[in-house]
Amino acid sequence: MPPSRPEDELDPARVPAHVAIIMDGNRRWARARGLPAAAGHAEGARSLKAVTAAARDAGVKVLTVYAFSTENWARPKLEVRAIMTLLCRALREYAREMKEKGVRLAFSGRLDEMPAAVRKQAEETTRLLEGGRDITLNIALNYGGRREIVDAVNALLSDKKGPVTEEDISRRLYTWPLPDPDLLIRTSGEMRISNFLLWQTAYSEFYVTDTLWPAFKGPELLKALLDYQRRDRRKGT
Ligand code: FPP
Repeated sequence: MPPSRPEDELDPARVPAHVAIIMDGNRRWARARGLPAAAGHAEGARSLKAVTAAARDAGVKVLTVYAFSTENWARPKLEVRAIMTLLCRALREYAREMKEKGVRLAFSGRLDEMPAAVRKQAEETTRLLEGGRDITLNIALNYGGRREIVDAVNALLSDKKGPVTEEDISRRLYTWPLPDPDLLIRTSGEMRISNFLLWQTAYSEFYVTDTLWPAFKGPELLKALLDYQRRDRRKGT
């Protein structure tokens, strides 16, 4: 018998519906090769494309990726600019392929504070991919978990009286109406949540790998999905 392939070992009935990823390690990957940070981010964008395709093929319905945090503005101006340019270029260049693969696009974060060119590109590509039925690629952009909760609380103060429920808060998060992530992946070995999806990951399974994000492609995602399928999710019960 030929050896079984990892994708054949996946149980289609227990694929996580929503996978979230903290894409970390782009600069370390670049530094190890004597390249500028921007080269690490560029390979990171290729990883995102490969992982989106692999997630869709595996039956994942939502993929949320941490592309730019509210803290990332503190990086060198040149690097911030390179990330913004890359983001616009990736959205433009990958749009056709994403459409063919049934990808729908969503954003979570304060897009209203993003440079106009990024906002425009985000809106244009979102519109183009509106009909995507196979997977939602949700890009967390100018995202901060605490800021998201503060924004939700302020929205509640202005539109609700009386006792507040968990659903009241969930409904006002940037990620609404997406479900909470079943699996949260972090690359490059750091054991931190870094202000990502603080409310939504209450019952998510965590998977941390030493692989740096630019080296994380389809086979690495499959490894994470198989690891998830070996877990016993009790959700506190
Ligand atoms: C983390 O690595 C990566 C980022 C802060 C930026 C993420 C950006 C991309 C993956 C580019 C493509 C994004 C899209 C949506 C097309 P790091 O820079 O923190 O690396 P380090 O941990 O080695 O310092």
